[in-house]
Amino acid sequence: TNVVVLISGSGTNLQALIDARDRGVLNAELCAVISNRPDAYGLQRAERAAIATEVLDHTAFASRDAFDAAMAALIDGYRPDLVVLAGFMRILTPAFVQRYAGRMLNIHPSLLPKYQGLHTHRRALEAGDREHGVTVHFVTEELDGGPAVIQARVPVRPGDTVETLANRVRQQEHIIYPMAVQWFSAARLRMADNRSWLDGEPL
Ligand code: GRF
Repeated sequence: TNVVVLISGSGTNLQALIDARDRGVLNAELCAVISNRPDAYGLQRAERAAIATEVLDHTAFASRDAFDAAMAALIDGYRPDLVVLAGFMRILTPAFVQRYAGRMLNIHPSLLPKYQGLHTHRRALEAGDREHGVTVHFVTEELDGGPAVIQARVPVRPGDTVETLANRVRQQEHIIYPMAVQWFSAARLRMADNRSWLDGEPL
């Protein structure tokens, strides 16, 4: 399975995928890492792992459509079976999402459908939630609304800050994302009828 990973930042989830591949628990070819930010630290992680890197600076494009079209051309050059969004902080156009329907995953740091969008940890703390978590989901046109694949829950502890809570969630991200990508790579996971299916059973 050929995988292209899209990032915008530090790339700790990318690192988790690289580590899982190196340990042999993820049987996928990490073909390329594409960042919309030239300074994303994840690009260095990719280079260290000898994975091709590409930078497509969204500020150089006149429109979202033009940026997404250029990105699709870049991605398709690697002939991926799966596109993995790992902290890619751009909203995608419907045309882009449709092009990769059923073969694009995202990870979102909340127990979706709670807290779609940004600042999820702060919102969970402000709401006084006693638990929080993270969701891997297929990407559909509904922002952070595609069918869930796997979730992990963490407790919210007294005295938690955005940072301590985010760190606790991120540890779970690094476990469940490689797992979901491996399911897809092993042809166990698919999206149909706007649902996720694992081994032929609805999730
Ligand atoms: C993660 O919290 C992920 O859930 C969110 O963006 C963050 C990316 O972190 N979508 P990293 O770049 O993988 O470290």
